[in-house]
Amino acid sequence: MDQAKWAARIRDQMAYEAAREGHPEGFPSLPPIPTGRYIDPDFYALEREHLFSRTWLLVGRDEDFPEPGSFRTFDRTGSPLLVMRGEDRALRGFFNTCQHRGAPVVRDACGAAKRLRCQYHSWTYGLDGELLQVPDRRDFRDLDVSKRRLRPVRCEVYDGWVFVNEDLSAKPLREWLGAVAEEWSPLQGATLRAHGTRRERVAANWKIVADAFLETYHLKTIHPQTVAKLLDHRGAAMGLFANGHSRMVTPKWEKAVEAARGAPSVLEPIPGLDPLYAETNPAYNVFPNLITPLDTTGFPFILFWPIDAETTEVEWTFYGPPAVNEEQEAAWQRAITVFDAVMEEDFMNLAPMHRSVASGALESIPLSYQERRIYHLHEEIDRVIGIDRIPEPLRVEPCLEGQLEDAP
Ligand code: FES
Ligand SMILES: [Fe+2]
Repeated sequence: MDQAKWAARIRDQMAYEAAREGHPEGFPSLPPIPTGRYIDPDFYALEREHLFSRTWLLVGRDEDFPEPGSFRTFDRTGSPLLVMRGEDRALRGFFNTCQHRGAPVVRDACGAAKRLRCQYHSWTYGLDGELLQVPDRRDFRDLDVSKRRLRPVRCEVYDGWVFVNEDLSAKPLREWLGAVAEEWSPLQGATLRAHGTRRERVAANWKIVADAFLETYHLKTIHPQTVAKLLDHRGAAMGLFANGHSRMVTPKWEKAVEAARGAPSVLEPIPGLDPLYAETNPAYNVFPNLITPLDTTGFPFILFWPIDAETTEVEWTFYGPPAVNEEQEAAWQRAITVFDAVMEEDFMNLAPMHRSVASGALESIPLSYQERRIYHLHEEIDRVIGIDRIPEPLRVEPCLEGQLEDAP
């Protein structure tokens, strides 16, 4: 990607947003979002069946699977899944489901194995999912072992990040990420390493949580002592991309940029990034459940996993260049703790908002131009589920198609 060209375009957008005096002409007014989408059990069932099991979801990192036979199991996506490195070093995804009677072939969260032996009756599978051994085989009259391989799911890696998708006919990951993959290339993701993970359960529908990370309208009220001291929300420039992804670049206050220049972090910045990265907070949403506010020395990937219709597990992992000494390790741990405070501020309203919505006291949500990434997320949710499957009162009316940055 031509970073300088990209940065110049974003700078123009930020200047425009900061200077405009009214609602941008030509940008549609967004119809209110029906709140039933956040609480209706049928809508949640549609999301489970047609969204989370049919889209790419981030489950880990390439280096989590160091050798042939390294595996990890996941149930966050809604199905019991298994990702494993084969003898040929390729990563493969499977349902963690024995093709005899459905017991998990792997019980541990992670490990390494030469073969996978189901712990119920010892059917044994190879690292590529082939069924290799069946005890007392003579007692199965018509068993065709070639039809009893572990059931595959898609598993692809972009720049070190491992994604899975149960939909075998899905677009390739790189193509689906589109503009996001292109714009992330300067981050050199494959060279980065995890520095810590946090998890928190929030008593709110996953979309109430996701929406909260898609706008900066709330900065002054919710984060007066933290993020609002760093970022000027009125200059936020946003890009809506195909497949529901989006970008939001929010300028830092000049005094914050200067303060950072005067007291550089002990953490090494990712080499080669355009200066725009130090002067702004570029944040991305990878549809549907990943948000990342980028920074020069590293950043969190924040994931929203629905546990049920009214519970979300938020899981955030920090990535950056590997720490080279104890001072950098300590700086990472401090940075992670500082971020805890910001997350607590964000979490504060979410459970009460869910209770309000569930009470029926709020029928629909009126969104402003600043909150357009939320509308974009919801439009794509409906597209992926299939609009005809969604009860009419719960749909969002598509109106942002003409606003996509990468539209032809
Ligand atoms: S369920 Fe796995 S061997 Fe029987
Ligand atoms: Fe926030």
